[in-house]
Amino acid sequence: MASLSSYYTLLALLIPILVFLLTRKPKSKRLNLPPGPPGWPVVGNLFQVVRSGKPFFEYVRELRDTYGPIFTLKMGTRTLIILSDTKLVHEALVEKGAIFASRPRENPTRNIFSCNKFTVNSAVYGPVWRSLRRNMVQNMLSSSRLKEFRGVRERAMDRFIDKLLSEAKANDGVVWVLKNARFAVFDILVKMSFGIEMDEETVEKMDQVMKKVLITLDPRIDDFLPILGPFFAKQWKKALEVRKEQTDFIYPFIQQRKRALENPGSDKAATSFSYLDTLFDLKIEGRSSVPTKDELVTLCSEFLNGGTDTTGTAVEWGIAQLIANPEVQRKLYEEIQNVVGSSDRKVDEKDVEKMPYLEAVVKELLRKHPPTPFSLTHAVTETTKLAGYDIPTDANVDIFLSGISDDPNVWSDPERFDPNRFLGGEQGGGNDMTMLPFGVGRRICPGLTMATVHIHLMLARMVQEFEWCAYPPGSEMDFSGKTEFTVVMKNTLRAVINRRG
Ligand code: HEM
Repeated sequence: MASLSSYYTLLALLIPILVFLLTRKPKSKRLNLPPGPPGWPVVGNLFQVVRSGKPFFEYVRELRDTYGPIFTLKMGTRTLIILSDTKLVHEALVEKGAIFASRPRENPTRNIFSCNKFTVNSAVYGPVWRSLRRNMVQNMLSSSRLKEFRGVRERAMDRFIDKLLSEAKANDGVVWVLKNARFAVFDILVKMSFGIEMDEETVEKMDQVMKKVLITLDPRIDDFLPILGPFFAKQWKKALEVRKEQTDFIYPFIQQRKRALENPGSDKAATSFSYLDTLFDLKIEGRSSVPTKDELVTLCSEFLNGGTDTTGTAVEWGIAQLIANPEVQRKLYEEIQNVVGSSDRKVDEKDVEKMPYLEAVVKELLRKHPPTPFSLTHAVTETTKLAGYDIPTDANVDIFLSGISDDPNVWSDPERFDPNRFLGGEQGGGNDMTMLPFGVGRRICPGLTMATVHIHLMLARMVQEFEWCAYPPGSEMDFSGKTEFTVVMKNTLRAVINRRG
């Protein structure tokens, strides 16, 4: 009897709690969030997005047309607030820059690969981020440091051209653009990160390991509905295996560099400086220990991954546009010849600085095809307001970069590929906020200058050496894209190259 009465007492206590929990409006409902498509309980818009069968960036473009420049998507437990207007982005990332400069919580898989947010890109806004970013920018990406790696870039460019030549020879003049462009830039970044010589096979193996990491980090349904986590035990196990493979593969090169530093002159092929040198004894604000073995692997991987697919993708879209617009390719070739003169000299970085048309081509290709259609996800450090709406701290704030650079209110005929818009002073071209392929504000891409050098140099060398034509000959270029970490061409670009006489 006593147990029955305590049972009723328990029920009497539980029922009001249950009623409260079931009838309570979720916290986000009480906030004045930006508008967005109606969703289902618990899953929100998640299944609508998945069932649309469209790449996420295309789905978002359609929503922007319906809901305007700021809207909300509920993806399971995550609330996404998507911005696609230059004024709003300016207000968020520049005027309220310190508030919008953080990153949201990571899913468990990402936490393993980022060593609990110990990277520049994933760290929350605070001392760890400041220490890591300052180190990367000042010690690796400043213009004086970039100059030091000029020889590394030149050798990588020569290897790149040789690879294209031998691939064309073996395939009736046809080459695979993205694969070769990715490899060329990876080659440079590996040398900058580790400062040691590696043969082509090793660089290729490292590239494969890194690609596997990126694939493992692809979003999964349980990132949005963590309650489904137990159904993804196999994927979790696989992620741990990939992390082990990454560490086992990379760490020996870290040790090799350490030995070279400890015994100067012992490794004749070692470069005078590398990213690793800045990391071994790195002081992190608020922490007494230097980076661990796992953290070193993670930081080097970030350097490699940040600049490889992004740059390779830009070159793929760039060559596709040069093939589709032969008059642009012809003008570019003329500019290269005018600057280099009649000699056989290879176009180099100094020449590239004197090529306004090349600069306009690169700007236009980054406008038309920003390699990442979204910035990395931002989060606010405190609940704030934007355009009159509430932005809570647990929301993912995403900047739709493609939506900014194809805005017809800013660009005339944004669908057209036309480098001249950057030479003729078109309204959009003059303002820094009208295209943001590298983001803006405190979290702007720190690799911006280096990436721009790489893209300029690669395109200039590619056009100086070869005429680029469609494959199959006479075919129309298909400019649809698909997401593979960056947005690459849906039908990967193969092109016919003819050596210039
Ligand atoms: C065409 C090439 C590249 C493009 C289009 C690109 C684009 C971007 C974008 C859009 C962001 C996010 C900005 C934001 O969160 O608002 C970013 C961040 C970042 N990028 Fe790049 N990037 C490129 C090359 C590179 C290179 C070469 C490196 C370095 C090796 C690099 C390292 C990073 C890092 C570390 C961050 C995180 C910055 C932070 O959170 O403070 N990127 N990049």
